Amino acid sequence: MAEELSTKWETPLTSEQNPHIKRGRYSHLTQTDKDVLSRIVEGRACTSGKELADANIDWLRIYRGTSPLLLKPKSTWEVSKILGYCHNRNLAVVPQGGNTSLAGGSVPMFDEVIISLKLMDKIISFNNLSGALVCEAGCTLQSLMDFLDAEGYTMPYRIGPKDTCQIGGNMSTNCGGMHVVRYGSRHAAILGLEVVLADGSILDLVTTMKKDNTGYHLKHLFLGAEGTLGIITKVSLECPVKSPSQHMLFIGVPSFQDVLKIFKKAKYDLGEILSAFEVFDETVMKLINKNLKLPNPLSGESPYYMIIATAGSNRRHDDEKMNAFLSQLEKEGAIQNGFKESRAEAMKHLWSYRERIAVALKREGICYKYDITLPHEKFFDVITELRGVLHPNSPCVVGYGHLAEGDIHLNVIMPQLDKEIQEKVEGFLYPWIQNLRGSISSEHGLGIQRRDEIVYSKSPKGVEVMRKVKLTFDPKGILNPYKVLPSWMDSELTQRNLSKL
Ligand code: MLT
Ligand code: ZN
Repeated sequence: MAEELSTKWETPLTSEQNPHIKRGRYSHLTQTDKDVLSRIVEGRACTSGKELADANIDWLRIYRGTSPLLLKPKSTWEVSKILGYCHNRNLAVVPQGGNTSLAGGSVPMFDEVIISLKLMDKIISFNNLSGALVCEAGCTLQSLMDFLDAEGYTMPYRIGPKDTCQIGGNMSTNCGGMHVVRYGSRHAAILGLEVVLADGSILDLVTTMKKDNTGYHLKHLFLGAEGTLGIITKVSLECPVKSPSQHMLFIGVPSFQDVLKIFKKAKYDLGEILSAFEVFDETVMKLINKNLKLPNPLSGESPYYMIIATAGSNRRHDDEKMNAFLSQLEKEGAIQNGFKESRAEAMKHLWSYRERIAVALKREGICYKYDITLPHEKFFDVITELRGVLHPNSPCVVGYGHLAEGDIHLNVIMPQLDKEIQEKVEGFLYPWIQNLRGSISSEHGLGIQRRDEIVYSKSPKGVEVMRKVKLTFDPKGILNPYKVLPSWMDSELTQRNLSKL
C-alpha cells in the first residue's frame, strides 16, 4: 500500500529520534550469518534495494530502522531454522506481515533481521460445515475474503488495509476493525495457531474445533503480543456464513448526544442484525473529500457522520427494520440527513469512505495516531479538550472510530513531526485516559510508539506478569525487541544476553 505523502518528509532513523534507547547487546550480523541465513531461504533473501528499504519503514513513515537483511521463508520449517540460528547466534529479529502496523510494531528499531511472512500465503483447509479455515500467516485479508465469498462465508473482521495486511499480523496485533460489535475480537474467532518460538521450536496449537478447555489457553497469549513471544506461522479461524441480507445507513448527525441516542436505539431496534456502528467527525469528512476525491454522499454537512450496517438472514424483515429505524430517527430529529443502501456495489463504495480514512489523513501530513478506549459518553470529549489544550498551535485534530466498543482513533496531523506538540498531546492525553480507566491502545497495539505508556492502562503487577511471560518465552529477548514491553526491560534482557555469551 504505497501511499504518497503531501509533504516532503524524509523519515529519520528511529534510533536518531530516540537516542535514549540503546541497541541491546545482540550480536552484529556477520557475512557468515548472512550467508547461512540466506541459504535457508535460497534465492529469497534481500540485502539491498527498494524491498529492503520499504521493509525498514513503517506505513505511517514515522519509524525507520537499518536492517541489512530481509528473509522471506516459504515454510514453517524455514522459519524454525532461521530462529534456531538467530537464537544461537544471539541475533535480534522482527517478524513482518503486511507492514501496516500503526504503532511501529513491524519494523526494526536498529539492525534486527526482518522475517517477512509474505510468501507463506497458502490456504490449507476449509470446512464448509463448521466454517473452520486453516491458512498460513502470510495470506492477505482480501485473499481470504475472496476465497470465503465463493464458499458462502466471510471473515469475522474487516479492516482498512485488507489488500496488504496479513492474517498473521492481524492476529499478532489482535486488530479490531468494523465488525467487532457483531463477531467479537480476534480472541472470539480464533480456533488455533502454529507458532515458532524464539529458539526455533514449533508450538502446534492448530485445531479446527471450537472447544478445548485443557488448561491454559495458550493461543490467546500470542494475540496482541506483536511477535514478541513467537512468530505466528499458521492460523485456524472460525468464519461466519455470509449474510444474504446486508444493509447500510449513511447518516449525518447534528450532535454527539444524538450519536449516543442512535447507538442505544440501534442496540434495541437492530440488536441481532447490527454488524457495524462507525462514526467520524466533520473534519474527517472534509479530508476524505479533499484527499480521496470522494464527495460527501449526503446533501448537506453535519458535525458527525455515521455508518450503521446490518447483516441478517431475511432480506424483507431486515429491510423493514432498517426503514422503520431510519424514519424514526428522521421523525425524532436525531439526524440531519441520511439514506439506506442495500446494493452490494454501492455499499462497497460507501465502505471505502470509512476504510480509507487512514489514507485520507496520511495524505494530509504526518499523522500521529492515538487509538484509545473510553466510556461511550466521553468518546468525543477528548477531541474537544485536546483542541483546547493545543490552541494556539492548532495542528489538525480529528476523531473517528468504532463507537460500539468505545474505540476512538484520535489523530493529530502535522506538516512534519513536531516533538513539542507530541509531548503536549501525550502529557494531556494519557493521564486523561487513565483517569477514566480507559485503554491507551484499543486495537493498534503498543508497538514502539506506546510501550512506555503501558503503565497508564496496566497495573504494575500486570506489567510484571508480562515481564515474566516474556522471559519464559524469549529469555534472550531476540523477538521483536524494543516493542510492547517498556524500555526499562531492555537492559534486563541485555544483561541476560551477556551472561549467556
Ligand atoms: C481504522 O479504524 O480505520 C483503523 O484502525 C486505522 C486507523 O485508525 O486509521
Ligand atoms: Zn480502527
